[in-house]
Amino acid sequence: MARRKKIYEGKAKILYEGPEPGTIVQYFKDDATAFNAQKKATIEGKGVLNNRLSEYFMTGLSTIGVPTHFIRRLNMREQLVRACEIIPLEIIVRNFAAGSLATRLGIEEGTALPRPIVEYCYKDDKLGDPLVTEEHIAAFGWASQQDMDDILSLALRVNDYMSGLMYGVGIRLVDFKIEIGRVYDGDFQRLVVADEISPDSCRLWDIETGQKLDKDVFRRDLGSLTDAYTEVARRLGVIPKSNGHSKPTLIN
Ligand code: TMP
Repeated sequence: MARRKKIYEGKAKILYEGPEPGTIVQYFKDDATAFNAQKKATIEGKGVLNNRLSEYFMTGLSTIGVPTHFIRRLNMREQLVRACEIIPLEIIVRNFAAGSLATRLGIEEGTALPRPIVEYCYKDDKLGDPLVTEEHIAAFGWASQQDMDDILSLALRVNDYMSGLMYGVGIRLVDFKIEIGRVYDGDFQRLVVADEISPDSCRLWDIETGQKLDKDVFRRDLGSLTDAYTEVARRLGVIPKSNGHSKPTLIN
């Protein structure tokens, strides 16, 4: 069997050249990192769960007309996606204060924000993904004004969709991060939601108990990350609600 070409290896995923031009295979690893990779672990089953959850969110977004890079899931750990040029920004949308916003502005975690707040970080691990303003983005040419208008609208549509979906299964979408890519159709450029949407890149709290069901479980040593992600997947019906076994069935 021919060895496929690895394009890039990140902290949680590997990208391989896809079977057709303009496609990429996105492989979800079990590796988890936090605090710019100062904390690392391998968490059995995380990659499989995130592959399924990201498929679920991306597919749902396309059904409401939000363009994404997702094409189809290939197997337990891999999905086929459209190759795109990632805009070097992490787009964060917050509904409740938590994490770096709570620390930066001295707001108690869990405080409802008066409206969703969108923040941008410059994607550069060496710099620790610093917070930037639209002034920096324009001055350094990371995205045009038109791109920024489109990014804001995409981010808010993702927020509405994800908040509603989560609310329906008793989960509060506290905040999340997305990445946006450019795809070219002939002379035209379109922006699509890229990378992944998973409990690695969201804060998800149980509405009743406040229990954390996202990567903060790993960041803050709050218990089993696999159990938390399995709970999210079960509530959404992405994996069977209960199969009589304590371990979830992750086949197919
Ligand atoms: P923050 O409060 O640490 O800035 O995180 C905001 C949101 O972004 C939270 O849902 C977690 C997510 N996030 C990532 O997906 N990747 C990252 O590298 C960081 C720092 C946060």
